[in-house]
Amino acid sequence: MKDIMRFDTVALDDAQSALVIIDQTRLPGAIEMLHLKTQKEIWDAIYLLQVRGAPAIGVAAGYGIYLAAKEIETSDYDTFLARFREAKDYLNSSRPTAVNLSWALNRMEQVVLANAERTVAEIKELLHAECEAIRDEDVAMCRAIGEYGLSLIKNGDGILTHCNAGQLATSKYGTALSPVHLGREKGMNFRVYTDETRPLLQGARLSAFEMVADGVDTTVICDNMASQVMKNGWVNAVFVGCDRVAANGDACNKIGTSGVAILAKHYGIPFYVLGPTSTIDMSIESGDEIVIEQRPAHEVTEMWYKQRMAPEGVKVYNPAFDVTDHELITGIITEEGIAYPPYTESLKAIFEKKKTR
Ligand code: MRU
Repeated sequence: MKDIMRFDTVALDDAQSALVIIDQTRLPGAIEMLHLKTQKEIWDAIYLLQVRGAPAIGVAAGYGIYLAAKEIETSDYDTFLARFREAKDYLNSSRPTAVNLSWALNRMEQVVLANAERTVAEIKELLHAECEAIRDEDVAMCRAIGEYGLSLIKNGDGILTHCNAGQLATSKYGTALSPVHLGREKGMNFRVYTDETRPLLQGARLSAFEMVADGVDTTVICDNMASQVMKNGWVNAVFVGCDRVAANGDACNKIGTSGVAILAKHYGIPFYVLGPTSTIDMSIESGDEIVIEQRPAHEVTEMWYKQRMAPEGVKVYNPAFDVTDHELITGIITEEGIAYPPYTESLKAIFEKKKTR
């Protein structure tokens, strides 16, 4: 099980023209690698959450569009661009909320647009380099986020997290769980409380799995137990990931996150959102503009149960994400540093700093 930390969540097998992922729907019962070759297989893997978590989706999309580009048999630039855009639109339709998906696809498209004078073969080589760069930068960003997060906590602290924003959601380390993994590298340990995260159980299945694999003192709680755990005085900080952060600091993350933020405020516990700048969407002013993915009813009524547990014909509301109001957020931890309120100023400053690199 410890080995899971050595697996790549997302990788490219260029020789086989395949996207290689750990099938996260099989965890923690089985570690199964999938080799995805067709665009339909890659689209399905993202939609079905076989690969999930905003940064991992971005990396998978970068590799996915490179594989699509590789298959385009033409030497004519305009034909290549048109086919590239078709593939881009297709992959972009797999999930709507995490901005990393369109961010990575747009970044890949920029390579095509900026090199119109080159041959199609050369553009394919550049696309290969770009998708590997997206992956490598993701590792570096997650490590930097981890260092900043670690500066806010001390050995033995209790951290509550929601969903999985760990290594399984990124290329390495994770975002919300990166401080915990880096702390382990330095011989520290924390008490981590993972909300189970209904309905798809990313907390109980994935966060708990990677925390236990890394030797972390881990306790799974049902989502409705967070208040009691906080009241007990067991939580020093809440660390959560994000799928899209608006310019005003409103942060969209797995459904249930905003409830945790409200509880944290009640109990006076700092609530931090951790994410790379690739998850911050400065083009939207507030969380009201974020499209929230709605998922099928059976995830609530049937999945994980031996028998369907809700009556046939009942209505089901199954939003995959919610938006935490910026006023509830103590700080947003990025690879460029920690942004504090007012976020309209501090997030702008984060991007200014990034530009100077
Ligand atoms: O539906 P999922 O499992 O893709 O949702 C994932 C989350 O909400 C994560 O917290 C977020 O993507 C950040 S991952 C570093």
